Amino acid sequence: MQRLWPTPGEINDIAALVADEARPPWAARPWLLVNMITSLDGAIAIEGRSGGLGGPADAAVFAALRGIADVILVGAGTARTERYGPPRPSAATRRARQARGQAPAPRIAVVTRSLTLDLASPLFTEAEERPLVIAPAAADPARLAEVAAVAELVLTGGAEVDLTAALAQLRRGGVAVVTAEGGPILNANLAAADLIDEWALSVAPRLVGGDAARAVTGAPPVDHRYRLERLLEGDDILLSRWVRQR
Ligand SMILES: NC(=O)c1ccc[n+]([C@@H]2O[C@H](COP(=O)([O-])OP(=O)(O)OC[C@H]3O[C@@H](n4cnc5c(N)ncnc54)[C@H](OP(=O)(O)O)[C@@H]3O)[C@@H](O)[C@H]2O)c1
Repeated sequence: MQRLWPTPGEINDIAALVADEARPPWAARPWLLVNMITSLDGAIAIEGRSGGLGGPADAAVFAALRGIADVILVGAGTARTERYGPPRPSAATRRARQARGQAPAPRIAVVTRSLTLDLASPLFTEAEERPLVIAPAAADPARLAEVAAVAELVLTGGAEVDLTAALAQLRRGGVAVVTAEGGPILNANLAAADLIDEWALSVAPRLVGGDAARAVTGAPPVDHRYRLERLLEGDDILLSRWVRQR
């Protein structure tokens, strides 16, 4: 993998490079980064899944961005479509995390309004630590009780999830860095509340046409400015890091 910017050169240890980057938590909420991959023409999926877009370089950055997270945040649609399982960091990642004072593995947090989750899936049955489920306080109490049997509930708002409040709850629980992995609806809700401190975008060398969603879809327009902090290349994929200019 090559670093194109700020200083060109070969990257031997992407996990160490990512871990050295500054991600200071706020007093009221964690640092939140969103990691997404798109085609050259901005599609986030091929035949409904993102896996077809990536390659080894993108997988390495994906693992590195998971490796620094206390919590991996994901929209329920993506958790369902991509069949999310529990994070399984490598032995080296676990050691590096513990050396930084983090838990050996990050926790998954699923954002859902409907609570339509497969509670018998490995995400819930095989997790080292119970996943978090972020849901509206006004959700069906019987369903909430079922979810609470296999996950830790983070309840906010009334009929809707208040993402700012949910992140504040995570921060009070000691969470410093959140890596969000989409999808586009969760991203739109995060952007609407101006919660995206960092945008990690991989651009894959494919032009796919069709009508796949963009990385942020379905909420009011925003105009938030980001500054380029790092640009890598591997397998012809551009791997960029953009930080919010406030
Ligand atoms: N290229 C990439 O990097 C990438 C990354 C991730 C996903 N994807 C693709 O994105 C597609 C799936 O995306 P999606 O449209 O299903 O969007 P999504 O954002 O993954 O999921 C939407 C669902 O998440 C929950 N949700 C999101 N924000 C919420 C909020 N503020 N309050 C309450 N619930 C909230 C709701 O779940 P409930 O329906 O349970 O209420 C909502 O229906 C797939 O094709 C996947 O491959 C691509």
